[in-house]
Amino acid sequence: MAGTYTFTIIKPGAVANEHIGPIINVINSNGFHISALKLIRLRTAQASKFYEVHKDRPFYKDLIEFMTSGPIVVAILEKENAVDDYRKLIGNTDPSKADEGTIRKLFAQSVQKNAVHGSDSDENARIESDFFFSKSERFSIFDERDF
Ligand code: RTP
Ligand code: MG
Repeated sequence: MAGTYTFTIIKPGAVANEHIGPIINVINSNGFHISALKLIRLRTAQASKFYEVHKDRPFYKDLIEFMTSGPIVVAILEKENAVDDYRKLIGNTDPSKADEGTIRKLFAQSVQKNAVHGSDSDENARIESDFFFSKSERFSIFDERDF
């Protein structure tokens, strides 16, 4: 069965451009419930660990610099089939290829500054949520044991 939550980041560019509210509005309008939320600034070590899977990619260093360049919003979003539905809602990594109405089409500046992150599997949703939130910072509308 597909999981009921995913993890998202509103990236520094979107935060700097005052897109926190508008992005959260799109998220809620599409049936996602916010179960955890905070504004933080990543340290280089945290960002490097979070994006470790990309460590051999040419864009890795730039990505870490960008993700540590200013505050971000981290959040856990709940909905049936959350991971797949949220990936659809955020759209293609490259905003020029993203469908109309997707978060990246609406708010991204470039492939790198693409407004939001969304988990790509239930396992990564769990790992990423645990990376940023303690149990006392989460408020599930489903079964607490899912968290
Ligand atoms: P995300 O993990 O942030 O949800 O994005 P994604 O799955 O759509 O894309 P992924 O391949 O996981 O890449 C992670 C992030 O790295 C930056 N990127 N830059 N300059 C480039 O060619 C390039 N390619 C990727 C983006 O910020 C992307 O979201
Ligand atoms: Mg990814």
